[in-house]
Amino acid sequence: MANLDPIDTIVYLILLTVSFIYLAKFTFATPEKSAYESLRDDPTSTINYGVNDFVESLRTSGKTFVIFYGSQTGTAEGFANALSKEGSQRFGLKTAVVDLSDFNISCLRNFPEGIFATFIMATYGEGEPTDNAVAFYQSVMEMAESASDEKPLDALRYACFGLGNRAYEHYNATMYGIDAALQILGARRIGEAGEGDDAGSIEDDFLSWKESMWSDLSKELSLQETEMMYQPLFSVEELASSNNTEPPDEGAINAQSTNLIRITKSHELFNSHHRNCLHVEFDLGGTGMNYETGDHLAIWPIDLSVFGLKDKLSISININAVDQTAPKVQFPCHTTYDAVIRFYLEICAPVSRQLILSLAPFAPDEDSKAAAIGLGNSRQLFHTRFTSNYYNIAQALQSLTPLPWANVPFSLLLESIPRLQPRYYSISSSYFLQPKQPSITCVVESVSCGDGGSFKGLNTNHLLWLTSKIGGPASTNNNDLLEYPITKVRNNADSNCTVPIYVPAYIRHSKFRLPKTSKQPIIMVGPGTGVAPFRAFIQERDVAAPI
Ligand SMILES: Cc1cc2nc3c(=O)[nH]c(=O)nc-3n(C[C@H](O)[C@H](O)[C@H](O)COP(=O)(O)OP(=O)(O)OC[C@H]3O[C@@H](n4cnc5c(N)ncnc54)[C@H](O)[C@@H]3O)c2cc1C
Ligand SMILES: Cc1cc2nc3c(=O)[nH]c(=O)nc-3n(C[C@H](O)[C@H](O)[C@H](O)COP(=O)(O)O)c2cc1C
Ligand SMILES: *[C@@H]1O[C@H](CO)[C@@H](O)[C@H](O)[C@H]1NC(C)=O
Ligand SMILES: *[C@@H]1O[C@H](CO)[C@@H](O)[C@H](O)[C@H]1NC(C)=O
Ligand SMILES: *[C@@H]1O[C@H](CO)[C@@H](O)[C@H](O)[C@H]1NC(C)=O
Ligand SMILES: *[C@@H]1O[C@H](CO)[C@@H](O)[C@H](O)[C@H]1NC(C)=O
Repeated sequence: MANLDPIDTIVYLILLTVSFIYLAKFTFATPEKSAYESLRDDPTSTINYGVNDFVESLRTSGKTFVIFYGSQTGTAEGFANALSKEGSQRFGLKTAVVDLSDFNISCLRNFPEGIFATFIMATYGEGEPTDNAVAFYQSVMEMAESASDEKPLDALRYACFGLGNRAYEHYNATMYGIDAALQILGARRIGEAGEGDDAGSIEDDFLSWKESMWSDLSKELSLQETEMMYQPLFSVEELASSNNTEPPDEGAINAQSTNLIRITKSHELFNSHHRNCLHVEFDLGGTGMNYETGDHLAIWPIDLSVFGLKDKLSISININAVDQTAPKVQFPCHTTYDAVIRFYLEICAPVSRQLILSLAPFAPDEDSKAAAIGLGNSRQLFHTRFTSNYYNIAQALQSLTPLPWANVPFSLLLESIPRLQPRYYSISSSYFLQPKQPSITCVVESVSCGDGGSFKGLNTNHLLWLTSKIGGPASTNNNDLLEYPITKVRNNADSNCTVPIYVPAYIRHSKFRLPKTSKQPIIMVGPGTGVAPFRAFIQERDVAAPI
């Protein structure tokens, strides 16, 4: 690995991507409910609709526009939330967003008349649905296969949008399958089925599909456009002036399967001053976590830049959904602005046109409002000013005006900023050699931008900083290391560490495994950090049949 240095970065990254896609074909096929999904299921807020509950809850709340999503890393979910918000603000529709894992398929049969459904579905693995949509997908397919001449879903009218990536053999397969099955069952699609290509401009694809969908739907349902009015989906209640300065610990990241795990070793693999690639070892001791050779380690990053709420960060708040059909509340019931921003929102993510447009009404002055609307509506301008510079939401807003955007309701940020997602890493150690000490091999993301600044990947730069704290020889070559505040000082058992180094993480099991017999020859294709799982395989073969 130390000699990878001369390889041109771009070629390297392309190979890297190809290898992930390649690996993903093997590894993302697992339909079981992942640890990732359990992490998102906060038992206090899950709406597990029974048949009657769901229909009843739609009736009593008067919801007429229901958006279902199948999402793994949040893109489809974000689109669903945006569509819901637009439906209510622009057309006065009463909207609901439903996670498909909370939806009992039987409800489709007695789907109330007068309610319109939209399906927004991503595709994974070899054309499979996301973890949260597996049960729904299977049921719809079974229903369609066993359907005779009856049309059980003839009361259902729907629209649909599929998310995928053309680089995959089974592009857009989930949406394609569902769309076909629903029609066999008698449901009627309104407008064109949309598709978004993740390799191209998925947001632009979505925006243009959505416009034609609204236009078709307006005719179908005789909708009237109304003045856009923001209606919060969350209430944010500031609690009595307790100054809670204690950052949350792992309990804040609400999951049974996520543990804080200690980094025991981390060192640099490249001899370059420009790029970093880390070998990081962890200790699972005492966590009850287990892995097998070929699994992934999912690490939660910590988002450390802050969105203009400097004076209020430590105020305790309670966040509640305004009604039952609002997006699931993912935040602990007693938290702080600081904790929500750092641990729950992906505030460093690329800024989207929709986000800029929804913040525009809250601009501090007319000029910045006009600028925000102009940029949000122009694909080209948006790309040059924001996307090509890797701007996140804070940088984008700051570039429009030096004034603070103090009028933006916090609930709007909760609704519109994507939720923080874990980063996956192929485990690069063999279970047989290091059963409790998995390692990863990770390239530190750092890209120079057009405006002279640089984009730094969130999680990998955090790991780089932690590596520098561990010290030791050649801890890091990076000349512009980002500094991170230490989140929590724990026991200082390791005398060689200046700070105790922990990250919240869990193991995601995969199907990427060595053949059962060690005699079976294998060819391994894994350019870039695609080599990571093969390092583990080689370790393991070496034990089984030392050369
Ligand atoms: C199954 C799987 C296995 C993987 N295994 C490995 C592995 O073994 N080793 C490894 O090094 N990586 C691996 N990865 C990739 C890894 O999960 C992370 O994506 C990677 O480390 C970057 O994380 P980050 O938080 O540092 O970067 P992020 O901050 O998440 O940025 C990642 C990318 O997102 C885009 N982006 C983010 N913010 C912006 C913005 N504001 N504007 C524009 N673009 C933006 C950029 O393209 C950027 O390069 C794997 C991924 C998957 C899905
Ligand atoms: C590991 C992996 C496997 C994927 N497999 C497919 C696929 O088979 N077909 C496809 O069209 N898209 C595939 N994609 C692309 C995703 O569908 C696309 O990125 C989508 O925007 C993800 O939506 P989400 O964030 O809501 O989960 C894959 C993406 C990843 C990361
Ligand atoms: C869905 O509802 C039906 C009918 O009430 C019930 O028999 C079935 O068990 C439910 N399925 C799930 C997964 O809850
Ligand atoms: C994607 O799915 C939609 C919805 O069924 C379909 O209309 C479209 O043809 C599909 N695209 C491809 C490339 O298969
Ligand atoms: C909370 O902190 C702020 C800023 O440090 C300070 O001005 C305020 O007086 C504190 N309030 C209480 C109740 O301690
Ligand atoms: C600390 O470093 C010294 C010298 O490198 C080494 O001998 C010792 O084993 C290390 N201690 C721990 C706890 O890792």
